[in-house]
Amino acid sequence: MNVLVTGGAGFLGAYLSNALQAAGHVVYSYDIASPPKELLHISPFLESNLRRGAIGDIDRLLAVCRSDKIDAIMHAAARVGLEPSLDDPGGFYQTNVMGLVNVCEVARQLGLGKVVFVSSNTACMRGLAPFRKRRTRRSLSRELTLRRTTERPR
Ligand SMILES: NC(=O)c1ccc[n+]([C@@H]2O[C@H](COP(=O)([O-])OP(=O)(O)OC[C@H]3O[C@@H](n4cnc5c(N)ncnc54)[C@H](O)[C@@H]3O)[C@@H](O)[C@H]2O)c1
Repeated sequence: MNVLVTGGAGFLGAYLSNALQAAGHVVYSYDIASPPKELLHISPFLESNLRRGAIGDIDRLLAVCRSDKIDAIMHAAARVGLEPSLDDPGGFYQTNVMGLVNVCEVARQLGLGKVVFVSSNTACMRGLAPFRKRRTRRSLSRELTLRRTTERPR
């Protein structure tokens, strides 16, 4: 299968790409940045298979999926970090929420039946492990973070 890993130059994307390639898939990554050196040790092919583009650029994403004959998308492109999200909530919304919408729209237009969304670790761990709330100077704003938008409802 031809798989596009969005955020493939990032931490989870690199490990996902490696695992997918080891399982026999043809892997491409879609990212605005190049993979850092330490991730190239994990997946040396990341650089040659990188399709550079922003997750907000739906035309580019669509063109890449078409030209690489993508069968499935694993979506890990995101901006991460609590403090940065408080400094730029609009930017985080555009990347993390609208980015997912774009991935789904591309999949809909191309009739791709397989989209895997890498959500936040809170969504994955709820009910399995205690999640300690860390009090910060800005903890009053904590519940307003965009992370909650992409979590499963309780
Ligand atoms: N690292 C973890 O332990 C962990 C655990 C659970 C869930 N997650 C989630 O997985 C996702 C990825 O996390 P990560 O740790 O790999 O982060 P990361 O920062 O290492 O990787 C994110 C990648 O997305 C890319 N990106 C950012 N904005 C983009 C844009 N506009 N267009 C295209 N690419 C863009 C970055 O360049 C980067 O390569 C996040 O949603 C995170 O919340 C991470």
